[in-house]
Amino acid sequence: MQSIRPDLEAVIPTFGLRVRWDDLELRLADDPELLALAALAADGVHGPDISPFSRPWTQGTREEVRRSVVARQWIRRGRIAVDDWSLALGVFRDGEIIGTQAVSAKDFQVTRSGHTGSWLGLRHQGQGIGTRARLMALHLAFEGLDAAEMLSEAFEDNPASNAVSRRLGYATNGSRVTAREGNSVVEKGYRMTRELWDARPDNLRPEIMLEGLSPVRTLFGIDRPDQSGSDAALLPVTEREDEHHGA
Ligand SMILES: CC(C)(COP(=O)(O)OP(=O)(O)OC[C@H]1O[C@@H](n2cnc3c(N)ncnc32)[C@H](O)[C@@H]1OP(=O)(O)O)[C@@H](O)C(=O)NCCC(=O)NCCS
Repeated sequence: MQSIRPDLEAVIPTFGLRVRWDDLELRLADDPELLALAALAADGVHGPDISPFSRPWTQGTREEVRRSVVARQWIRRGRIAVDDWSLALGVFRDGEIIGTQAVSAKDFQVTRSGHTGSWLGLRHQGQGIGTRARLMALHLAFEGLDAAEMLSEAFEDNPASNAVSRRLGYATNGSRVTAREGNSVVEKGYRMTRELWDARPDNLRPEIMLEGLSPVRTLFGIDRPDQSGSDAALLPVTEREDEHHGA
């Protein structure tokens, strides 16, 4: 069957967005890949000792978990309004979908402030992939979409998520008591500012490629339509900026 992806990209530019770093790629998943993601979630996203999400979508039958994943991804795909968008990107390793890394924002064209959230299939955790995927999401936000700050939250009893934020150099951003499945739990906030991002150490500056960026910047109201340049989106951002501002 012929792929409809090129036609889809022309209608919904977020389908053309790709973030690449060696073996990893972040991009929206096609429906067959969403089903693979759903099966992965049904196989397990966390151990019984951890409850990382405020809505317990990982509990229930395999069928319920799979349905929840696909439905949620479909809803997020459609969130492309300039004042309320979501990039529920699949995390692919060597072409296989192994989790999801979302970047979302409300009123981003005014605030330049967004959020990230993620999960990986249990068997893909603990190998540094979550840290790399978050770094790719931050690269997309700061280098690709001109973010001023990016926020992340994690329950205090979720060591892996808290460790990812700490390792990438976020500042702590307070905490609050919230409800989780009928019990109170402390949620910790983290904030990566533009200043912290620009001052990050060399080991957090790998060469990450952004592709298909220009139409997304226009869609999200970051550029006016006449400012976008489709050729530029294929180059690493540093080179692209040189091209625009140099000479
Ligand atoms: C959170 C998540 C995306 C992180 O991805 P990951 O690939 O497992 O994480 P990494 O391998 O990059 O490890 C990140 C850090 O967590 C630490 N870590 C992982 N599991 C841990 C555990 N059970 N206890 C303590 N530290 C842990 C690692 O040691 C590493 O810290 P370091 O860099 O200081 O050594 C992934 O674990 C996951 O999907 N968890 C379930 C869903 C979830 O919690 N989502 C986030 C909701 S806020």
